Amino acid sequence: MNKINLFIILTILINCYFGINQVNGKFHQELGWKQSLTREFIDPNTPITFRVYIKQQNIEQLKTKVREVSDPSSSKYGHYLSVDDITSIVSPSKQSINLIEQWIQPFNPIDIEFTENQDCIFITMSKQNIEKLMKIRLFKFIHQNGKIILRSPIDPVIPSNLLRHIDLITGISHFPVYKLKNKVNSLSSSSSSSSSEGLQILSIKGTGEFITVEYQPSCAPSCNGKYFPMDVTVTALNQVINNTIVTSNITPTCTVTAGATVCKIFANSFIYQPSQVSITDTVSNQVLAWDHPIVSLPIVLPQTIKEYYGIPNHYQVTHPNATQCVVEFEQQYYSPADLEQFFNSVGLPTNVTVNVIGSNDETNPGVEASLDIQYLMGVAPNAQTTFWSIYANTSAEIDDILQWAVAISTQPNPPLVNSLSYGMTEGNVDTYLGNGYMARSETEFAKLAARGLTVVIASGDSGAYDLGGPPMGANGCENMRGDWPSNSEYVSAVGSIYFTPYSAPICYESVASGGVNCQSLPIGEVGVSLDYGTMWTSGGGFSNFTDRAYYQNDFVTEYLEKLQELNVLPPSNLFNSQGRAYPDFSTVGKNLYVINGGEWLSVDGTSASAPIFAGMVTILNDIRLNKGLPQLGFLNPLFYQIARTNPEAFYDVVVGNNRCGLSDSSPICCESGYTATTGFDTVSGLGRPDMSVLMEIIDQF
Ligand SMILES: *[C@@H]1O[C@H](CO)[C@@H](O)[C@H](O)[C@H]1NC(C)=O
Ligand SMILES: *[C@@H]1O[C@H](CO)[C@@H](O)[C@H](O)[C@H]1NC(C)=O
Ligand SMILES: *[C@@H]1O[C@H](CO)[C@@H](O)[C@H](O)[C@H]1NC(C)=O
Ligand SMILES: *[C@@H]1O[C@H](CO)[C@@H](O)[C@H](O)[C@H]1NC(C)=O
Ligand SMILES: *[C@@H]1O[C@H](CO)[C@@H](O)[C@H](O)[C@H]1NC(C)=O
Repeated sequence: MNKINLFIILTILINCYFGINQVNGKFHQELGWKQSLTREFIDPNTPITFRVYIKQQNIEQLKTKVREVSDPSSSKYGHYLSVDDITSIVSPSKQSINLIEQWIQPFNPIDIEFTENQDCIFITMSKQNIEKLMKIRLFKFIHQNGKIILRSPIDPVIPSNLLRHIDLITGISHFPVYKLKNKVNSLSSSSSSSSSEGLQILSIKGTGEFITVEYQPSCAPSCNGKYFPMDVTVTALNQVINNTIVTSNITPTCTVTAGATVCKIFANSFIYQPSQVSITDTVSNQVLAWDHPIVSLPIVLPQTIKEYYGIPNHYQVTHPNATQCVVEFEQQYYSPADLEQFFNSVGLPTNVTVNVIGSNDETNPGVEASLDIQYLMGVAPNAQTTFWSIYANTSAEIDDILQWAVAISTQPNPPLVNSLSYGMTEGNVDTYLGNGYMARSETEFAKLAARGLTVVIASGDSGAYDLGGPPMGANGCENMRGDWPSNSEYVSAVGSIYFTPYSAPICYESVASGGVNCQSLPIGEVGVSLDYGTMWTSGGGFSNFTDRAYYQNDFVTEYLEKLQELNVLPPSNLFNSQGRAYPDFSTVGKNLYVINGGEWLSVDGTSASAPIFAGMVTILNDIRLNKGLPQLGFLNPLFYQIARTNPEAFYDVVVGNNRCGLSDSSPICCESGYTATTGFDTVSGLGRPDMSVLMEIIDQF
């Protein structure tokens, strides 16, 4: 009787909370989740696992230790901590643990597991007991993509005496985010913005002498299978002679998918030269120009990278402990057959073995995973490589980077270099993943740094404003936004550049003001940016949540002064100049040739830059380990120092900006962004490591 009453009251209360929480933005319609309307019976004994992140102790002491072991000027440089060392610093107080156990025990947990550092508990409990413990109700939610998850629309209610002992509880009220989560940028026909009518350019991809234009024909949406030939006009900008190529009467190949018509045409283009591209419908004579410059660049393979980056072509990692890893979420899997074919096709040794942690469905490879593993291993062949897939035992998954950080921090022999091409705009992390999630992940990254692990993060694909809309990005030019986890002091954030001889500002001046044709200059690199001819913009800027890191302090001060002198400093209300500045480094992120499911694709994204950088770190670790030196671990303090003492160790990227981005696949340019300059900048960081220098000097620290 009592129970039934309680149930009714609870239902009303929950409905009420539900409303409040929607207002508060806890249960997010924009994520595409809907509570199942079918009153399907859920067994109250269904076991569910959640995680309680217990408040740690001595976080400042941990951070001091990180500084000692990663700062090359410290006598403890390279003296990394063990799991036990870290436990002895951060493990929660007995009081915290006792109080939490006393809270949980009466509700018959099926399983309780403490992590090695004692600071996180995985608890499995029946659905009905969780509901009593946390004063919530768990419902079945269905995503528009068909995934199903059990969740509470409101956050767990934690007894007030426990609040200061718990950082965060995950697995109860967070909804997985399905939308442009990873940072691979294949910009293919699936552009969602093609629903409107008439002629529209969807993408332009070059391979040097040719470009492929994908467009929606003027007849769309009702073409009745009849498409018109097109002309493509490519006009090189900044030329002494107005140089135009017209490819006439090209018959398009068109497909209709879910009502959207996409046509594809191939045309001639200028290699490397920033050009204006327009298409003409030969029947209506309608002309449509792409609003931004376009560069047509050759395809990149591992040997292209090695040649330009000073890595001996046949370099093979030999030390068994020079280990590396790609971390994947979102059921991004790789295919060993693809990997083998990739190695064969690009002329690398093929006896590769990969250690898989988590699940891998070989029959269902994803472009992000294929890119990551092919380029990590392509740059550092023969290194012991782990494919680490974070898997949630439900049909739905969360990009739970914190979960990975906790999992790796308890491994006795974790991979030394870890590449993650995932993240989201920093202001949305706690909103979608739980209050306290970002702060806790910062401590977990510090633990990894203390252990001597390198964490490489892609800096994002949508410029200084993290455009793209929630949940992963934001909209509007009213302030620039940092990306997480690039904003962490303890990771190496990597942005994207591309290969071009047009790598000095003078190449972009008008002829009248002294501009030159840079076609025959040696290959250099330029920031990936809509303003400089690509269809997306590499991420970079200042965090408004984390502070400027000590190791970058002077570099950032100088950069801000330079922007001021050049009169291109963004207005101070748009960014927090005291924040952590990123990226730290950059590598190529454009036109990487990848095989996925037996099919070759050219792929773009900071997603490519992160594993390429990670492979370079593995090579440097290999050199150090072979000389009996400790691995590089958290390398930012060392690399910023090297940039000072041996500036030739970095190729300085001096062209690029990141004021633009993609909002729902459509380009948007805000008025101001960060500009590449000599030295450190928040377009390319310190620039691209020059391995011919680093491989020589890396054993001196
Ligand atoms: C270059 O040529 C194109 C096509 O003939 C013409 O439309 C355009 O105005 C010319 N631009 C300049 C700067 O002369
Ligand atoms: C690799 O690391 C393991 C564990 O730390 C150590 O026992 C082993 O000696 C190392 N191997 C080499 C060749 O240094
Ligand atoms: C291939 O594997 C063998 C045996 O594990 C190893 O000795 C060799 O170095 C590898 N060779 C290449 C080219 O990767
Ligand atoms: C997933 O959960 C089901 C039942 O809830 C269980 O039987 C199965 O072993 C779990 N799988 C993994 C990989 O944990
Ligand atoms: C940074 O955060 C503060 C405090 O939340 C806020 O007032 C400010 O507008 C933010 N600045 C930017 C540039 O986002």
